[in-house]
Amino acid sequence: MYDSSLSIRRRLKQATEPAHASLEARIGPLTTQIEYNEYLRGLYAFRSTTEDWLFTNGAKATGTWTPQTIARELHEDIIDLALTPLSVSPVDWGPAARESFALGVHYVLEGSALGARILCKQVEPLGLSREHGARHLWAQAETLESWRGFLAVLSEHEGDEDALFAGANTAFNAAAGAMERAANV
Ligand code: HEM
Repeated sequence: MYDSSLSIRRRLKQATEPAHASLEARIGPLTTQIEYNEYLRGLYAFRSTTEDWLFTNGAKATGTWTPQTIARELHEDIIDLALTPLSVSPVDWGPAARESFALGVHYVLEGSALGARILCKQVEPLGLSREHGARHLWAQAETLESWRGFLAVLSEHEGDEDALFAGANTAFNAAAGAMERAANV
């Protein structure tokens, strides 16, 4: 099904493209404060639980890669905008093929820095900035160092490829689920 002549990164991107497209379509362009608030509450719920899970089950800092965390900035954005966080439960993704699965989850968090640049531009007209309400987006857009470090680790991955793809798709689905909850609470 996947073209094995492609790099692991290309194959991973291909395997998760539908999940990314559907998440992007769900979030949509962030043109109003209401849309942004919904996105922010959903993303905070997703990131805080996923970053906690990765802290225990994921990769540790290695070589040029220190996994990027933005849950603190997201929480500050929530406070700036006087929003109430969604209630969350810890993630339970089990121990199956832990290392490859977790690397797939890392991919979703690290790769989101690429889209952050676009979102920074979208939300500027709403008065959101690196000092107010959109700290997490600027933190991601400011540097691609962590993404590049992650890619270096990914390129050496020799584990279970199906588990890698499953981890990434599971994380994308969890993000979509959190966005859905934010839209309904
Ligand atoms: C409306 C919101 C979003 C927009 C507009 C957006 C847009 C983008 C864009 C333009 C790229 C770069 C694609 C490329 O270089 O070919 C990208 C990559 C990526 N985004 Fe998003 N994104 C959004 C939301 C998200 C969210 C919420 C997540 C994670 C939960 C995410 C995860 C990723 C990942 C993992 C990649 C890396 C794909 C790759 O090149 O391998 N995105 N996004």
